[in-house]
Amino acid sequence: MNVYDSELVARILDNKDISPTDSAEAADYIFINTCSVRDKAELKVLNRLKHLEALKKKNTSLVIGVIGCMAQNLKEEILENKPFVNFVLGPDSYGKLSALLDAEKPWEVKEVHTDLSKYETYDYIYPLRNGGNSAMIAIMRGCDKMCTFCIVPFTRGRERSKSAESVVNEIKQAVAEGFREVTLLGQNVNSYDDGDLKFPDLMERVAQIKGVKRIRFTSPHPQDASDELIEVMLKYDNICNHIHLPLQSGSDSMLERMNRNYTKEEFISLAEKFKKRIPGIAISTDIIVGFCGETEEEFSDTLDVVRRVKFDSAFMFKYSERPHTAAFKRMPDDVPEELKGERLTRLIELQKINALEINKKLVGKTLEVQIEKISKKSDDHYIGRTDSNKLVVLPKNGKVPGDFLKALITEAAGITLFGEPVSL
Ligand code: 5AD
Ligand code: SF4
Repeated sequence: MNVYDSELVARILDNKDISPTDSAEAADYIFINTCSVRDKAELKVLNRLKHLEALKKKNTSLVIGVIGCMAQNLKEEILENKPFVNFVLGPDSYGKLSALLDAEKPWEVKEVHTDLSKYETYDYIYPLRNGGNSAMIAIMRGCDKMCTFCIVPFTRGRERSKSAESVVNEIKQAVAEGFREVTLLGQNVNSYDDGDLKFPDLMERVAQIKGVKRIRFTSPHPQDASDELIEVMLKYDNICNHIHLPLQSGSDSMLERMNRNYTKEEFISLAEKFKKRIPGIAISTDIIVGFCGETEEEFSDTLDVVRRVKFDSAFMFKYSERPHTAAFKRMPDDVPEELKGERLTRLIELQKINALEINKKLVGKTLEVQIEKISKKSDDHYIGRTDSNKLVVLPKNGKVPGDFLKALITEAAGITLFGEPVSL
């Protein structure tokens, strides 16, 4: 979502004839798009700001903007202690940027806008994309779910959807620019609501757009991953065989404390349903360890779900307390840091074994791969991605990034597959 938001801001800058540079030293304007979801992300930004303060001392006409979720949290801190920052814009305030840039001396301006909107969807800004294979499109913004650990409802505000018409138009424009893959984004895509048109209906409209070869989406809340969604995934070949179902925890008591509205067994049944109905579907997830009061028994329930569901991939995090959240207000962050680390390591070890086991079953299969870029490890190899979101390393063979080809999978190492192009 932040990549997409940066693309919106890039368009606003481009409209003012401000073009990108690779060097912070050479820049006249520097905007940092920030994330608040975990404290680690915030610490990174605070460190970066120290560096920017030094740059501003050297170049007094440098314009510095802090945008995104941290703007909400940092507002007071920036007003009081960070005089070198000019603009602070929360996720619903990017529309204000254009006028701010018109100031005669924007490097002397100090403006803070962090109000959240019930309506802002930025349907009037077409993102300026910087390459990449997938055109990201935010179909909805905000979240009403109120998971007790999560800051998103406070930094990004209430749920609201972009009209289907505007989503379709944005995708048509991306296809005209050469994109063949789109990723529909939302904190909670299943809450998409354009009157009678819900998320599965939107997917159907998108799947019918000419030239769209792959559609990805992230993330649905497990509670709302409906049969209609499965039906539409089955009906259209261009909807990718992958779903991200954030588990967060496998323990009923923890899920209740997290306000997730499903139980361990309901989650397992849901994952099994997806696997049974959509053969070969890859399931990825998010898991938090060490949430408030997590006992060894509760943690072993999480391991149990991971063992039983066998996720293709997982993003795994240590819980960190976030301001404004119900957990922050009412539940002590009482799992010692060391224990959080230990549990995270155990979880990662298990997940690694599962991912390798799943990926080994793909050896000998021929899969369609879209080429993304040159492999970091070898100039003679490309990295591509399968429909089920797996990375494949394969030798260059006259293709270019963006092209599709069939690859015979020859080896699985961890989360990466190795393949050879085949001509059919
Ligand atoms: N601590 C750790 N992880 C968190 N996430 C959200 N809030 C927190 C937090 N306070 C994780 C969840 C979510 C992902 C985007 O970030 O797993 O799905
Ligand atoms: Fe946060 Fe829960 Fe909303 Fe996801 S569904 S963004 S975890 S509040």
